[in-house]
Amino acid sequence: MSNDAAIITETLERVAERLGDPTPFVFQRLFIEAPEIESLFVRDADGLVRGQMFQVTIESLLDFLGDRSYGANLIQIERVNHQGLGVDPKVFDTFYVTVMATFKDILGADWTAEMEAAWTRAVGELTSHSG
Ligand code: HEM
Repeated sequence: MSNDAAIITETLERVAERLGDPTPFVFQRLFIEAPEIESLFVRDADGLVRGQMFQVTIESLLDFLGDRSYGANLIQIERVNHQGLGVDPKVFDTFYVTVMATFKDILGADWTAEMEAAWTRAVGELTSHSG
């Protein structure tokens, strides 16, 4: 595991210790920043799609930082697939930035300089190929 992947895994563990599943917080923030996205989750009344998608986006991020076996490709494919669901490809960039901002808020004083560096690198790399 790369050092950045280890730091990002540690962030996830710290966040989980604080409040369990962070999915609702991430989407709450996303919908405040970009209210037009909320209306796209028309069929997801119980939040199951959001929960599973959040898992996959994080797993893809960790794969991207580690083995790089599928993460970047999957995200690229989903950027295209989601256009059929009305999701602009740029929303994927917004999403990862929002995940980072949410975790930073949750951890407060426990958000370290190492975390800031690892997340900034990861989000920067993942979002630099969008079109
Ligand atoms: C690797 C990344 C992702 C994967 C694998 C993924 C996967 C999926 C899957 C399997 C569905 C259900 C498909 C269907 O109902 O036809 C879905 C729906 C959806 N996804 Fe994603 N997703 C990803 C990232 C995202 C991101 C970043 C957003 C934006 C915040 C997003 C927004 C949506 C929306 C709005 C729906 C439709 C929900 C509904 O119909 O209520 N997805 N996604």
